[in-house]
Amino acid sequence: MKTNQGKNFIRLPMKRLNRILALLLKDMKDLNDEGRELPIRWNIMHMYSSVQIAKLLAFKRGINTELAAIAAALHDIGVVKTKKRKDHAQAAKPFVYEYLNLYNSQFGDKLGEITEEEIELIVTAIVKHSEKEKIDEHPFIELLKDVDSVDRYLHGVITKSDHLNRCKRVTRELNLESIIPLGIGVEYE
Ligand SMILES: [Fe+2]
Repeated sequence: MKTNQGKNFIRLPMKRLNRILALLLKDMKDLNDEGRELPIRWNIMHMYSSVQIAKLLAFKRGINTELAAIAAALHDIGVVKTKKRKDHAQAAKPFVYEYLNLYNSQFGDKLGEITEEEIELIVTAIVKHSEKEKIDEHPFIELLKDVDSVDRYLHGVITKSDHLNRCKRVTRELNLESIIPLGIGVEYE
């Protein structure tokens, strides 16, 4: 990371992420809800908020922050493209490659390439992100599962079983377990 020594500001290295978000929003903003299980506004909202949660958790866990956020930005592209939730993690694979290759060809020289190794890591995490019950040994893959669970919970989505367990673990990890309500069977207003 550049530290801008001697200057009175800091800027996180998010240029690649921000360009990918711009590409995604450009494609998503005019889609309509016809035939969709989830309205497109949900996908847009969940995309942006997952990105920010991914950054915070990645900092906490010592994981590459921008890369974690790029995976979060693209994680539900399978839902966006197929309009369905069923098997959306697997369905995402070709679209993730498509967006990352498009980014590289149009902006890689100027803003920095996403390497093949990074692409593979992002694709793997996205393809596995629905397997909330499994604890993966790769921290990057685990992070995306946690991010998805926590972001949905914070948006007021009914949260149970493996998603709930993940939310509980994350709130403990962040020392927020006494503050964030996660009691089963309680609807918080
Ligand atoms: Fe998601």
